[in-house]
Amino acid sequence: MAIQLLPDHLINQIAAGEVVERPASVLKEVLENAMDAGSTVVEVQLEQGGVRRIRVADDGCGIPKDELPLALERHATSKIGSLDDLEHVGTMGFRGEALAAIAAVSRMSITSRADGAPHAWRIDADPRELAPAALNHGSVVDVADLYFNTPARRKFLKSEGTEFAHCDDVFRRVALARPDVALQLSHNGRVSHRLPSGTKEARVRSLLGDDFLSAARLVEAESGLLRLTGYASLPAYSRSNRDAQFFYVNGRFVRDKLVTHAIREAYADILHGSRHPAYVLFLELDPYGVDVNVHPAKIEVRFRDSRAVHQFVYHALTRALAASGAGGAAATVEAAAQRPEAASQSGVRYPLPGPQTTQPYQGRLAMEPVSRAYFDFAASARPDLPTGPRPDESRPPLAAFQPAVAIERDSPPLPAGDLAPPLGYALAQLHGVYILAQNESGLILVDMHAAHERILYERLKTLLDGTPGVQRLLIPAVFGVGPKDMASAEEHAELLARMGFELGPAGPQELAVRSVPALLARAPVSELVRALLAELRDYPASEVVTARRNELLATMACHGAVRANRSLTIPEMNALLREMEATERADQCNHGRPTWTALSMVDLDKLFLRGR
Ligand SMILES: Nc1ncnc2c1ncn2[C@@H]1O[C@H](COP(=O)(O)OP(=O)(O)OP(=O)(O)O)[C@@H](O)[C@H]1O
Ligand SMILES: [Mg+2]
Repeated sequence: MAIQLLPDHLINQIAAGEVVERPASVLKEVLENAMDAGSTVVEVQLEQGGVRRIRVADDGCGIPKDELPLALERHATSKIGSLDDLEHVGTMGFRGEALAAIAAVSRMSITSRADGAPHAWRIDADPRELAPAALNHGSVVDVADLYFNTPARRKFLKSEGTEFAHCDDVFRRVALARPDVALQLSHNGRVSHRLPSGTKEARVRSLLGDDFLSAARLVEAESGLLRLTGYASLPAYSRSNRDAQFFYVNGRFVRDKLVTHAIREAYADILHGSRHPAYVLFLELDPYGVDVNVHPAKIEVRFRDSRAVHQFVYHALTRALAASGAGGAAATVEAAAQRPEAASQSGVRYPLPGPQTTQPYQGRLAMEPVSRAYFDFAASARPDLPTGPRPDESRPPLAAFQPAVAIERDSPPLPAGDLAPPLGYALAQLHGVYILAQNESGLILVDMHAAHERILYERLKTLLDGTPGVQRLLIPAVFGVGPKDMASAEEHAELLARMGFELGPAGPQELAVRSVPALLARAPVSELVRALLAELRDYPASEVVTARRNELLATMACHGAVRANRSLTIPEMNALLREMEATERADQCNHGRPTWTALSMVDLDKLFLRGR
């Protein structure tokens, strides 16, 4: 074939491939145009997940009649005029591509009344026709039958529920950034969001809920040219997916690797690897410091001084999260209003039982009681060992000291030699997190969640291969889910059933779980299923078992495993130790961290400078 210029319509359809990935991308572009037009009230109506229709009405500046045809042309924009403009662009749009691209793959019309015009005009994209119309102010952009003329792309659309869920995401992203604009979203005639204009806090509250706000820290940091504001959740409000993560650069929602990394680092010490923080954060900087023209959907940006941004975000967030004070939850956003001065820095990671233990546990034990407890411990563990001088009887009696470790006198005696289990027998549980056990050579410390997770993971491997043991729930677990989860439950029903999960809708926004795999009978059902659905989302059922198998098992294991702060009895702990010994690769959890460690008597003696 000879080289030839492509017809305009085809050029636009090709460009649409980049800009318009699904209905949600149309909604994003049209909503952003409404924001750029200075609107104060915007109403969105969707039909059939946005595939049948996306209609956005705004009260912005409108488009004059003679500019309406231009609005539909490629590279026609009122937002920039020069390279310099591009370099400090303050609007969401700047390419003049969006409407042309959308018009090429749908039936589109725009009705608009420019400020001061005697009446409105309506333009149809195809055939290109201009006619007088009735509208009080602003613009109405109507996009119907997306992909009606590009069947190949239509095939890639997911179910109505999934597409709506993506639109809902886009709507929330815009809404969180613009609390000054009143917004409404409805789907198939039913209103799903009605947001009056108001404060940032009120907007965050209506979109992320009271739960989030009451477990979130206010972030307010400024350094030179950078400013970070917003809310970041404390670990207690962590989630099983990344759905509640909103990061904006100069008002634009972005997913940026660098920023995500900085945030993860800030949470690294306080959040379990499989949990995700929730946040709404706004980074502001001089537009010259960031290039927004690097991604077709404008969802990525490039920072000129990326190191500085990383450092700034990391430190701002670390400081906000660390200002926890001994009172823990008392220092959240809600309390901050009355008590703005941050409490002292402290490193409490696990809630401690009892009122007397609200201080960090470091430094609570005086030297004498520790060694005294040790003497008793050593004596019971190794009766043949000389116990050394007993502490002075005039010292405070042992009872006055609350031992961190309750020493079980009646733990089973260690059989000698070959019979002794390698991980020994449990003595106690420490702060609801570690199991302390004694074996022949000394002390064994087990991270009980990590160890249990590993055991479950290995056992669950059989789940996808054979027929699972199924545990029917006496009372079905019913819980609310978002539209995306609802859609993936439907899409993956068969796979889930194969694994032992029987579930189905119990209402428009509710799922009922009737059975779970027997191995996971004791797991928190709603959390487990939510995490699974998040894992399954965006993967066609046929690919899940091959491509996502291990992630899926890991998610189930993590949720099925005993949680920190669950108190275990001595026999339960011993059972866990025995299972660890019987499980392959039990020494490391699924995240590669060790599940247990040992301190021999020799190590311990060294710690206390004994025998020198
Ligand atoms: N709701 C609206 N109200 C007023 N003017 C609008 C509206 N929507 C579009 N326009 C006008 O139409 C022009 C073209 O819109 P389009 O979205 O195609 O491009 P853009 O927003 O300039 O750039 P981008 O492709 O990056 O979105 C805009 O520059 C703006 O002048
Ligand atoms: Mg635009």
